[in-house]
Amino acid sequence: MTAAQALDRIETATHGPRPGYRRLHARGSVFRGTFTPSGTLASLTRAPHLTTTPTEVLVRFSNGSSDPGAPDTEPGVRGMAVRFLGDGQQPVHDLVAATFRVFASRNPEGFVELVEVLGVAEPTASPVRRALRVPGQVAGFAGLLARHPESRASMREFGARRVQASYATTRYDGIDAYILVAADGRRSAYRYRWIPDAGEVDLPKPPPAGITPRFLLDELRDRLAAGPVGFTLAFQMAAADDRTDDPSRAWPEDRKIVVGGALSVTGAHTDSSTLESSLVFDPTLVPDGVDLSDDPVLRFRGSVYRLAGSRRTAGG
Ligand code: HEM
Repeated sequence: MTAAQALDRIETATHGPRPGYRRLHARGSVFRGTFTPSGTLASLTRAPHLTTTPTEVLVRFSNGSSDPGAPDTEPGVRGMAVRFLGDGQQPVHDLVAATFRVFASRNPEGFVELVEVLGVAEPTASPVRRALRVPGQVAGFAGLLARHPESRASMREFGARRVQASYATTRYDGIDAYILVAADGRRSAYRYRWIPDAGEVDLPKPPPAGITPRFLLDELRDRLAAGPVGFTLAFQMAAADDRTDDPSRAWPEDRKIVVGGALSVTGAHTDSSTLESSLVFDPTLVPDGVDLSDDPVLRFRGSVYRLAGSRRTAGG
């Protein structure tokens, strides 16, 4: 499967494309912030923004649905994409993370099939309602799980999920493995996660009065009016036998966690509506001092996001 075939299938399955919108994670907004490294990674990577130098960042929070009108009050994926900027505002490093803890598939094919199964029904129904309403979807899930048994772990995890109360009280995982490269060339595999300083908080059931279907971005803007929102960037370091080529398998939670630094989200970007159509994140954009692992999903994501970005910025 090529990136173009994957993207065509995603666009068809999600009843798109919707010109100007991302093919997934369609509703979002861009914020500004600063990342300050803790210094603890100094012996593991030669990338200055992860070791010594505070860096300006762009942060896009998003609802993972392909539908820009999808409700935030239904369970679903939420995203947090961070771009570290160089002195001349050039992109240096992108971290594109989401709220699942393991990926639905060990390879790109399984993910595209999942999008197709979820997309069987009308575009605006939530995944849960669609699963109940559409008989074809039940059969679709059964076939998917037979072909991709590794998807069970993420489905189980996802089924247990509540609804996020705030973009600021949500943990986001990078899922794919990367490699830190030290000044002396030593290589250390890791996965990263953003831990919210305010703790992880779900929306109570039933939701409090005043919660509107698309409340998450407004809630974040209101929160930022009272002060910055913080996240800790944590690196889960692989043990020698942890596989880096399978994002559907979590590494044991007793693996060493190293705090890389602190992100302070300070406010909405003044140009956020232009950036909605023009900004293209790429999880394979890494600086000297960070390498891609052999994870096949990671490399594929890079080519799909770049292609999706070029279709979107060309007005498609
Ligand atoms: C083969 C696997 C995957 C495929 C084919 C895929 C596909 C896509 C596509 C087509 C987009 C929209 C891009 C655009 O229109 O500009 C997107 C966005 C996004 N994806 Fe994935 N994705 C994959 C895996 C993942 C994983 C593992 C994560 C999280 C760790 C993730 C998180 C995100 C986020 C946060 C966005 C929004 C980025 C932004 O704000 O611009 N995706 N993905």
